[in-house]
Amino acid sequence: MSRTAYVNGSYVSHANAHVHIEDRGYQFADGVYEVIAVQGGRLIDSAPHHERLERSLDELKIARPMSRTALDIVLNETVRRNRVKEGIVYLQVTRGVAKRDHAFPKTSVRPAIVVTARPMKAHAPEVISKGVSVITTPDIRWSRCDIKSVSLLPNCLAKQLAKDAGAFEAWQVDQDGFITEGTSTNAWIVDEHGNLITRQLENAILSGITRLVLIDFAHQHQIAVIERKFSVSEAVAASEAFLTSTTSFVMPVVAIDGRQIGEGIPGPTTEKLREIYDKHLNAE
Ligand code: PDD
Repeated sequence: MSRTAYVNGSYVSHANAHVHIEDRGYQFADGVYEVIAVQGGRLIDSAPHHERLERSLDELKIARPMSRTALDIVLNETVRRNRVKEGIVYLQVTRGVAKRDHAFPKTSVRPAIVVTARPMKAHAPEVISKGVSVITTPDIRWSRCDIKSVSLLPNCLAKQLAKDAGAFEAWQVDQDGFITEGTSTNAWIVDEHGNLITRQLENAILSGITRLVLIDFAHQHQIAVIERKFSVSEAVAASEAFLTSTTSFVMPVVAIDGRQIGEGIPGPTTEKLREIYDKHLNAE
């Protein structure tokens, strides 16, 4: 089946879709993005994704390309045209096309927008039931990781390190030895009392939508959430660990840098959260 992309106002064949060579996203990574899960052909948690997108745009002083309602129509139409039942929709907005100059264009330019959608299978049950391993690596990113910018080179380098090491993800570590987050996931541990610990929202991490939603569910199920920093050694000594994202949902982590977490199998709190989150995906 041929794929369709939405590019600056038109639905075009994915194979022939193109943007201008002087798009500032291409030249300066001057843009932001969102990845939204699709389940049963429907967008999951689109409202907080819109909120985060608008915040990222505002922080970079990029104009909103269209209203939320119009954007929702485009997102859903792209999903529909690509017949995605289970997968993701990707949305990217850049400052637009202008003669190359570091400073923003003097005259207002139209932000450029691209939307694509594709089927993506959830991770295989045997991966989830075994859990995954992560490595740690210094966090070499900038100090505004709260903005969902398309500038992802440090994340790509770190993810490749993980891949080369046979690990699922790299947990990035700040200069004081505290874990910030994964390259495209948020990091969590569970202490001996069953409390969830995840880094507090600040410029060092992205406010993951899965993280946000899961905190809500934890509260509903009387599971305490402590938002604070945790070190690599605390994570290694934790009872359980897991990571969250739009594409991994709740994924158990059973080893960090080759050192086993807890029993080396997904723990009961992680399993419960995974179940709760799965219900949410299928219920919406
Ligand atoms: N990544 N941290 C970073 C650095 C991320 O890039 C992501 C998402 C997350 C998790 O956020 P969410 O729960 O909203 O997916 C945390 C997306 C999936 C990506 O870049 O593909």
